[in-house]
Amino acid sequence: MRVVEGVGMPEAGPGEVLVKVGAAGVNFADVMQTRGLYDGGLEVPYVAGFEAAGEVVDVGAEVHGISVGERVVGTGYGAFAEYMVMGAGNVARVPEGWRDEQALGLVLNWATALAALKPLGQVSAGQTVLVHAAAGAVGQAAVRLAKHYGATVIGTASADKHDVVRRLGADQVVDSRESDVASEVLRLTDGVGVDVVLESVGGETFAKSLEVAKRVTGKVVVYGVAGGEASVSNWELNFKHQIHVIGLHIGVLGQHAPEMFAELMAELDKLIEIGVYPPGEPTVYDLADGPKALAELETRATVGKIALKP
Ligand SMILES: NC(=O)c1ccc[n+]([C@@H]2O[C@H](COP(=O)([O-])OP(=O)(O)OC[C@H]3O[C@@H](n4cnc5c(N)ncnc54)[C@H](OP(=O)(O)O)[C@@H]3O)[C@@H](O)[C@H]2O)c1
Repeated sequence: MRVVEGVGMPEAGPGEVLVKVGAAGVNFADVMQTRGLYDGGLEVPYVAGFEAAGEVVDVGAEVHGISVGERVVGTGYGAFAEYMVMGAGNVARVPEGWRDEQALGLVLNWATALAALKPLGQVSAGQTVLVHAAAGAVGQAAVRLAKHYGATVIGTASADKHDVVRRLGADQVVDSRESDVASEVLRLTDGVGVDVVLESVGGETFAKSLEVAKRVTGKVVVYGVAGGEASVSNWELNFKHQIHVIGLHIGVLGQHAPEMFAELMAELDKLIEIGVYPPGEPTVYDLADGPKALAELETRATVGKIALKP
């Protein structure tokens, strides 16, 4: 990945808005895209980046309710750039008083964490939630949200990130690299396991997530594969893991369950208003340092949200 000039200005087509990028969000999806692991990903050469916040400078035909001059955060292709086009249906307004970079994560990280916990995980007060990668961008949102809904939260993270996870309100933090996560979580839950697992890691961790979900009622919401692919068989679901395994992709949710997505966005607005969802504090890199940012995300060296400034 490198900075190129003279690419030309993208144009807003019907149903799209053109945004002057104030800050672009770096997501694990960018790492996967770079490695050719993102389903339906782009072919090289392409302008990287899926998420940005900035000012609307043009609106295409058939766009209603968004005007030039408004600041929005949303998704599309080519976010690591000075200008990008977003589908008007994929944008939210930058909350009043927030800078562009502070709004990154609203439609990807926070919406994903909320979808995993509420409509899909159906978490309620008094339940226990296990959040993998709890110091990450989605993970931090999930810890805050789960605490707000009255759950007991167990987070996993690399040891040097445990303080961050504790400060967010997690009740327990388990070392994602050293400990036997499954035995540790079972020990912390008196052998019963947890009501909901937020599974973004996969690989060897997936089997541990299945093991610690409560028999019969426990749910494992799968929304990431940072540690690689893993599987569960029908035999295992029948005889070994009598639990619910639920898949989540926020883009597909927005497309196929638009009412649910609208409810998520309305709930996030409310959470912003009452301060449960505070302005983000991303680590900001120059656009030219994009490769460094991606490498750090890939090697588990980051905490929270990462942003690029064009
Ligand atoms: N399905 C969706 O719609 C959707 C939307 C947004 C994000 N996601 C997914 O949610 C996850 C989190 O995304 P994010 O952008 O917020 O990233 P992130 O959590 O900030 O970064 C990934 C973290 O995962 C942990 N991890 C554990 N094993 C890993 C491995 N083998 N390789 C790399 N990381 C590993 C690391 O934390 P520790 O070192 O602390 O363990 C790492 O810092 C990703 O899997 C992403 O693809 C999915």
